[in-house]
Amino acid sequence: MRVVEAFRATSGREPDGVWHAPGRVNLIGEHTDYNDGFVLPFAVPWGVTAAMSRRDDDTITLLSLQATGGRPSGEGAFGRPLVISEHEQAEGWARYVVGVFWALRQAGHAVRGADLVIDGDVPQGAGLSSSAALEVAVALALNDLYDLGLSGLDLAVLAQKAENDFVGMPCGIMDQAASALSREGHALFMDCRSLATRAVPLDLAAQGLQILIIDTGVHHELADGQYARRRHDCESAAKRLGVESLRDVTDLAAALSKLDGDERRRVQHVVTENHRVEALIGLLRAGAVREIGALLNASHISLRDQYEVSCPELDVAVEAAVRGGARGARMTGGGFGGSAIALVADDRVGSVRQEIEKAYDRQGWSHPRFLPATPAPGARRLG
Ligand code: GLA
Repeated sequence: MRVVEAFRATSGREPDGVWHAPGRVNLIGEHTDYNDGFVLPFAVPWGVTAAMSRRDDDTITLLSLQATGGRPSGEGAFGRPLVISEHEQAEGWARYVVGVFWALRQAGHAVRGADLVIDGDVPQGAGLSSSAALEVAVALALNDLYDLGLSGLDLAVLAQKAENDFVGMPCGIMDQAASALSREGHALFMDCRSLATRAVPLDLAAQGLQILIIDTGVHHELADGQYARRRHDCESAAKRLGVESLRDVTDLAAALSKLDGDERRRVQHVVTENHRVEALIGLLRAGAVREIGALLNASHISLRDQYEVSCPELDVAVEAAVRGGARGARMTGGGFGGSAIALVADDRVGSVRQEIEKAYDRQGWSHPRFLPATPAPGARRLG
C-alpha cells in the first residue's frame, strides 16, 4: 500500500495501523438530516486511507499524498509532513483532521498526538463526501490507537461535531454516518432524530440495474452560504409552525397554509422528501427496486423547484439521463454542482451516457465523468 510506503519513507518506521473510510452517495432523503428526518445513503468504493501511529506528545504530523501529487518526488521523498502543535495553525484540508482530535478531546477523551499519512481516491469536488471520509478515517484510527471503545455511531457524531464546530460547516449527520456505518450491498437508513440506523439490502446487480454517478465537475461558489441559509429557512419555519423541527409536521396542508415564500417551499420539500424515503424503502422491501425511479425523479424536481439547490448542469444531466432511458435520476448531496445519480438498466448505460454527453455538447460544457456506484462497506481497519 503506497500510504504505508510513504509512512516508512517519511518516518523510517512502520505505522501502528492502517484505516479506511469511504465517501457516500445519497439514494434519497436530501436536506432532511438537519430537520430530524430520514436519509438513505450508501458508501461508495472510494475513500480515504490513513496510516497512523501514536505519539507521546501533543504534536500532529500530517502528510497527504494528494497534497504532494501522490507520488514520491525527488530522491524518494514524499514532501514534508505538516507539523501542528496548536489547533489554530491548521488550514485547508488539515482542519478536518485536526478537528477530529479537537472533538475527541472536547468530549473528554485522552487523545494525544499522532503521525498520519493520508491517501484518498474520492473524486474531488464530486459531492461524494471526501471530507466526511477523512474525518471518519481519522476518528476510527484514534479510537483504536487510544482504546477509546467508541461505537461507529459515536465516531460519526464526533466527526460531525468536528465539521460543525471546528471547520465551521453546519452539515447534518448523514455523510459521517454513511461513512462510519454502511454495509456492503446495503443502503443505510437513518432516522436523524433518534439516530437509529438499519441496513437496507440494495442488490441492484441481481436485477440488471446499476446506479450511475454523473459527476458534473462543477462546484458553484454559492454553495456554502446557501446551505446555511436553507438550514435557517427550515429552523425559522419550524418556529413559526410551533414545532421542534420539520420532522414534526404531520399535516402538510395545514402547515403550508400558515407559510409563504421561501419557507413554504422549503417545508414542502422536506416533508414530502421524508415521505419519499419511506416509500422508497417500502418498494425495496417489496423487491420492487425497478420501480423506485419515479421517486428519484420527484425528489429532483422538489430539490430544483421547492428547495432551490439544483443548478443547470445537474438539471441537464438528470433530464438527459431520463431521456436516454434511465428509470429515474436526481441530484445527490448538498447541490449547486457535484453529482447526480441515475438508476439505469445495464443495457441502457451506453445510451444514457450518450444522451447526457450530447446535451452537454449542446450547452458547450465539457463532459461529466461517469462512475458506477456499488454499495461498499463502511469504515474499517485494513492492517
Ligand atoms: C451535505 C451535508 C449533509 C446533508 C446533505 C444534503 O452533504 O453534509 O449533512 O445535509 O448536504 O442532504
